[in-house]
Amino acid sequence: MKIISKRAAGKTLSGDSFSFAQQAKAAKRAGFDVLDATLGTFYYDDGSFRGFEAVKEIFRSLPDEDYFSYAPIAGGIPFASAVLDWVFRASRTAIEKEMAARVVPTPGGTGAISSAVFLTLDHGKSVLIPDLAWGPYDGIAANFGVRTERFKFFAGNVFNFEDFRLKGEAVAQRDGKLAVIINDPCHNPTGYTLSPGELSRIIAYLNEKKDTPCVLIYDIAYLDYSNEGREAARRKLEILTKAEPHVLIAVAFSASKSFCAYGQRLGALIMMNKNEDVVEELFRSLAFHARHSWNNANRAMISMMTAIAADEGLRRRLDDEIDIVVGELRERSAIFLAEAKSAGLAVYPYHGGFFLTVPARDNEKTLRDLREKEHFYFLPFRESLRVAICAIPKNKLKGVAATVKKYCPD
Ligand SMILES: Cc1ncc(COP(=O)(O)O)c(C=O)c1O
Repeated sequence: MKIISKRAAGKTLSGDSFSFAQQAKAAKRAGFDVLDATLGTFYYDDGSFRGFEAVKEIFRSLPDEDYFSYAPIAGGIPFASAVLDWVFRASRTAIEKEMAARVVPTPGGTGAISSAVFLTLDHGKSVLIPDLAWGPYDGIAANFGVRTERFKFFAGNVFNFEDFRLKGEAVAQRDGKLAVIINDPCHNPTGYTLSPGELSRIIAYLNEKKDTPCVLIYDIAYLDYSNEGREAARRKLEILTKAEPHVLIAVAFSASKSFCAYGQRLGALIMMNKNEDVVEELFRSLAFHARHSWNNANRAMISMMTAIAADEGLRRRLDDEIDIVVGELRERSAIFLAEAKSAGLAVYPYHGGFFLTVPARDNEKTLRDLREKEHFYFLPFRESLRVAICAIPKNKLKGVAATVKKYCPD
């Protein structure tokens, strides 16, 4: 007889990014000169963490009701519109012309991804994810008794469409359903961004599987940090409208990253399909799920997003603040990549965003050596280690690639 449910038993939060960050913090407290590149949180070059001024200004101006009272469960129409405005911008009209879209606020992008898995996958089914993927996808699936299947993300320097298709076929045949999670642009952990051609090919493949319900959980956590520029990143989203009625597009938006408001916990799931009834059913079910799991999302953040949607000037100011971060990431990645090149350190293809990833076959040993001998803290990913350049000021980044190379034999 056990008090814990079968569903909850055996689940332990270990090897999570936050636990590695705790180790780095402990080493710092112990007086070591630590390089903490564990978490996906942006730090400015002076080593400070700061929220965006435009966001803080809106927070300060909100009447108590818009800050502290309950938000509508489904966020309300102005919020849904604000999310679609932010995520799609100039492409919104074109996208909504082709697809029915409904939005529900969630606790962070994590809540959106988890909701998408809950809504579309039954116990015992699988979700297809890349071999190089954000760690929590596994746990999100496990929470609902869903398995993860992996495909090789890269074939050389490009998306491995062949392995994606191979693994997709196996899942579709076994489960009679094919759900995939893709993080794009600025893929975590590598910083890879799918080309429009690659995204089109993914959609075209799902379209081919006419007798199989398909779900593309499109995790756009880093949409606003893409080096292709905010408009081009949005234009690429128009490709999603090519999805046929048997393909649900579930766009997981994270306000944590876009608004540099990680602790405020807001995200949204945008459910899109050619068939309005499909989207309505999912919307009703997600509102029910929200009400009975976390209830309402963060009211202040919802108010902030609606305020931005209503004020072009504020939005521009926010865009400018995001551009500073994008520029900084560009400079940091250039430093790391140039030094990696001279040191002969291999790096997975990087196009933009918070992270770069270095292949390291024995990554546990490499990470241990770097921790113990250099006080460098990175995160392990499959046969690789992730360098969160978002957290490293330029003056601390110099020389890092060469040091990593010392512990990363070919
Ligand atoms: C790939 C990816 N997806 C989603 C998220 C969701 O973040 P949050 O729940 O803070 O919005 C993160 C955050 O680190 C991420 O890296």
